[in-house]
Amino acid sequence: MLKLDLHRKSFAGHTVLENVHLDLKHGDRVAVFGPSGVGKTTLIRIIAGLDKRFVGTRKAPDEIALMFQNPTLLEWRTTEENLQIFHPGASDNDIQKALAQVGLHDKADHFPRQLSVGQQRRLSLARCFLTPTPLVLLDEPFASLDQSLRQEMLALTRRFLDQTGSALVLVTHAQDEAAALGADSFELRDVVQTGAEIAAL
Ligand SMILES: Nc1ncnc2c1ncn2[C@@H]1O[C@H](COP(=O)(O)OP(=O)(O)OP(=O)(O)O)[C@@H](O)[C@H]1O
Ligand SMILES: [Mg+2]
Repeated sequence: MLKLDLHRKSFAGHTVLENVHLDLKHGDRVAVFGPSGVGKTTLIRIIAGLDKRFVGTRKAPDEIALMFQNPTLLEWRTTEENLQIFHPGASDNDIQKALAQVGLHDKADHFPRQLSVGQQRRLSLARCFLTPTPLVLLDEPFASLDQSLRQEMLALTRRFLDQTGSALVLVTHAQDEAAALGADSFELRDVVQTGAEIAAL
């Protein structure tokens, strides 16, 4: 389903990732750990197909859902429109149902700036899962949230994953998040020291 054999990824001659191998089957869940600057976001961008400048091969589904740490919502569009634009095939009913699932049913006509940070994150999560995709990529989606909101987001994510059967690549710094989502953990190590490596599942 996802097969990445990444031999090397460099920026201006500086190697960031080396020998990273991922082989995910339908429904597999993986959590990627590693210190700041080690190349986690770079890896997510490569898996997503946003960055094609690397040495290696990538086989991935056409449809991939992606959520970055900072919600990339369209500021001049309402909550409802933020879902519609990314899911043109979704019916009004689908949109309302998705908003209800993340507790935003009464915020359909609000703009992102009128939402709290937690509500913006929940909207991003709904956008990620509204149309089921075989693969979901989450780059530190729960960072800097208070404990209760983090638990709430984790529970929602778990429910969505169980419903859709999507495979998951989660970037996180928290072991409990991997555990809560039933994801196997992999450490991305500094290339300079050891050669970064994620073992194939
Ligand atoms: N577009 C770019 N041009 C040049 N260097 C880049 C670019 N994007 C990332 N880098 C470098 O690649 C390295 C890895 O960055 P990346 O954002 O993948 O780290 P990260 O593991 O996601 O860190 P964090 O945990 O802080 O989010 C860093 O040294 C960064 O400076
Ligand atoms: Mg990052």
